[in-house]
Amino acid sequence: MGQNLPILVAGGAGFIGSHTCKALFQAGYCPIVLDNLCTGYRDYVKWGPFIEGSISNEGLVGEIVQHYQPCAVIHFASSINVGESVQDPQKYILNNVCDTVFFLKALRENGLEKIVFSSSAAVYGPSQVKTIDEGHPIGPINPYGYSKAWMETMLASYRDAYGMQSVIFRYFNAAGADKEGELGESHDPETHLIPLILQSALEIGDPITLFGQNYDTPDGTCIRDYVHVMDLADAHVKAIDYLLDGGPSVILNLGSEVGYSVAEVIKTASEVLGCPIPHKWGARREGDPARLVANPQKAKTVLHWQARHSDLSSLILDAWKWQRRLTSDSRPL
Ligand code: UFG
Repeated sequence: MGQNLPILVAGGAGFIGSHTCKALFQAGYCPIVLDNLCTGYRDYVKWGPFIEGSISNEGLVGEIVQHYQPCAVIHFASSINVGESVQDPQKYILNNVCDTVFFLKALRENGLEKIVFSSSAAVYGPSQVKTIDEGHPIGPINPYGYSKAWMETMLASYRDAYGMQSVIFRYFNAAGADKEGELGESHDPETHLIPLILQSALEIGDPITLFGQNYDTPDGTCIRDYVHVMDLADAHVKAIDYLLDGGPSVILNLGSEVGYSVAEVIKTASEVLGCPIPHKWGARREGDPARLVANPQKAKTVLHWQARHSDLSSLILDAWKWQRRLTSDSRPL
């Protein structure tokens, strides 16, 4: 596959988007990045053309499609913080849902019929099962999760009415960094567990506050499934291959199938880094389910994908190398 085929990548200057562009390029595709740079970085776009703008700008999307003639789209552009979505749900409705309404309209009007969409494990909400498969009931408990569930519903309608085929990925917790050191995670402000642990170890800002010790889990802290961003990038390349081969719409979990509690992540980070992680304990963060761990079997079956780099220690080590680089260089790269 590949053959320098153009792929439109909305949000390709962000964390998962930029790693995916690199993987697309390495697989022989040409990623065309559309990003408004509200959270992405221009310097992370290195593997194809860049257009600065919003996915909601129908005219611009139409011009890009006419000019570059992409054969498929990957849609990463989104606000992504669970906690923020509880404080400011309107932002998530506008940035995620409304902008996607206009994006899909422009894609359809310009004849683009294949899309890979970044959804999230946040659509599932609370779960009693050990690992969650795609048949698990949807039940988001925060506006971020709602926004992703609504967009999944839009894509189902576009499939049924217009024949637009989609691979919907429900990511569990994306983490890690490019093993060659070209890319990594740089949110501003940072709200995610692993980069904040690393910043605490480097004594950047206050020690991390860990949210809640009284969840219904063995050690009382929330359990998550951390999946390496390079594994996620690989899944997107496989999804493009699948759609271009004529594969029908499908929803797939992307996770490692292993859950770690917040306390276990702190312990592993301390061992990997060889130093204590300054931290303090705080109250629960509203909107956090106790446990989210993937059953990724369907992605194995449909795409022949599996997480290969998501062992927690090596994932933390890759993120650590990136974080140290950021602190000695001036950000972004
Ligand atoms: N946590 C802390 N302190 C912090 C930050 C996080 O204790 O300062 C805890 C959270 O409470 C949670 C765990 O660490 O229990 C992971 O939190 P993150 O903020 O790193 O990630 P989330 O699980 O909230 O959300 C992430 C992505 C979402 C995605 C979700 C799917 O941000 O986009 O994973 O599981 F939907």
